[in-house]
Amino acid sequence: MSRPLRIGLIGCGGISRAHVRAMQILGRETVQVVATCDVEEALAQERARESGAEIVLTDWREVLKREDIDAVDICLPHDLHAEAAIAAAQAGKHILVEKPIATTLEDGWAMVRAARGAGVVLMTAFVERFEAENQRVKQLLDEGWLGAPILAQVDHLQNVVVPPGHWVRSRQRLGGGAIASAGCHRLDLLRWFIGEVEWVSAETYYEPDRMEGEVAGVVNLQFTCGALATMSINWMSPYRAFYRKLWLEGTEGCVHNWNGLHVFSRKKPEWSEGFVKLECEPVDPFAAEIRHFVECVREGKEPLTNGEDSLRSQAVAVAANVSEQTGCRVRPADLLSQALEDAK
Ligand SMILES: NC(=O)c1ccc[n+]([C@@H]2O[C@H](COP(=O)([O-])OP(=O)(O)OC[C@H]3O[C@@H](n4cnc5c(N)ncnc54)[C@H](O)[C@@H]3O)[C@@H](O)[C@H]2O)c1
Repeated sequence: MSRPLRIGLIGCGGISRAHVRAMQILGRETVQVVATCDVEEALAQERARESGAEIVLTDWREVLKREDIDAVDICLPHDLHAEAAIAAAQAGKHILVEKPIATTLEDGWAMVRAARGAGVVLMTAFVERFEAENQRVKQLLDEGWLGAPILAQVDHLQNVVVPPGHWVRSRQRLGGGAIASAGCHRLDLLRWFIGEVEWVSAETYYEPDRMEGEVAGVVNLQFTCGALATMSINWMSPYRAFYRKLWLEGTEGCVHNWNGLHVFSRKKPEWSEGFVKLECEPVDPFAAEIRHFVECVREGKEPLTNGEDSLRSQAVAVAANVSEQTGCRVRPADLLSQALEDAK
């Protein structure tokens, strides 16, 4: 496909602004928003003005009927991802869907099956994989500077305040709480860096005045390779609207990302005296993510965060919620195979 990828943007709230900005960076010769859609028409109009889209719709089914649209970018509340994505696949549209892929693993499998059946690309927008610092950490691991991972700590600290009645307050609409909603980014990142997760245990903190799901949690993980990690999340952070930290230690070196990416490695003389700051070329991670989606559609490649891979990350988040409810260690692979059975 040499012409631009023609997009129908479904859901024109908060995150869609970042997607439209990213598409502007990529340019209309790469990607064009043909239609915007939101039940709140004013939001669809706003995004149309920003993106140059000529069609404004309030029903996503109308987006799927259009022959001048190749792909949909789904930025809807979590409980609406599955229905829209499955219908999009059946209409032959490629799919970029915001994280988490779905609110249940069964719905996620149904999305994967629908995309495979239709031969369309299904990619989850796990944007943290496209951040320059995280790309660099992955490269350091792949090149062996850190040796085999032993221990990692990641967190996500944010102050999320939404009014009564907002979908984020509903455990069912969000698919859990802070862990499944935003912690899934960090869990996905850990899987990308270290590999598959063997078992999960979790503890949580609730603030019912804010939301039904947990507002904070600590998730302990052991990976199949033996490495250990913790992911902690707080959606009531008093310090800043949003910040994150990362620490990873391997047999040969360590990295941390807190006020810049720093590395220590016994394998490289320049990095072996103490931590050294690594300069990373700034990139817009949303632009990098959407560029990857466009390339996958054009070249028929599997996305880095394809449906099945995203579902494996989601299974880790679901395992954390099962663990906080039961007090037991939970194997994400068991939940995933059970969900596959149930989805048949
Ligand atoms: N950095 C990130 O990765 C990041 C950050 C924020 C949100 N997100 C994800 O983006 C998605 C959307 O989150 P948001 O914060 O933009 O939410 P939002 O509530 O701001 O936007 C959702 C939009 O969907 C619209 N909508 C609801 N039902 C609809 C329907 N049936 N048809 C058409 N439109 C409908 C709403 O009117 C709203 O404008 C979620 O999956 C969320 O997890 C990702």
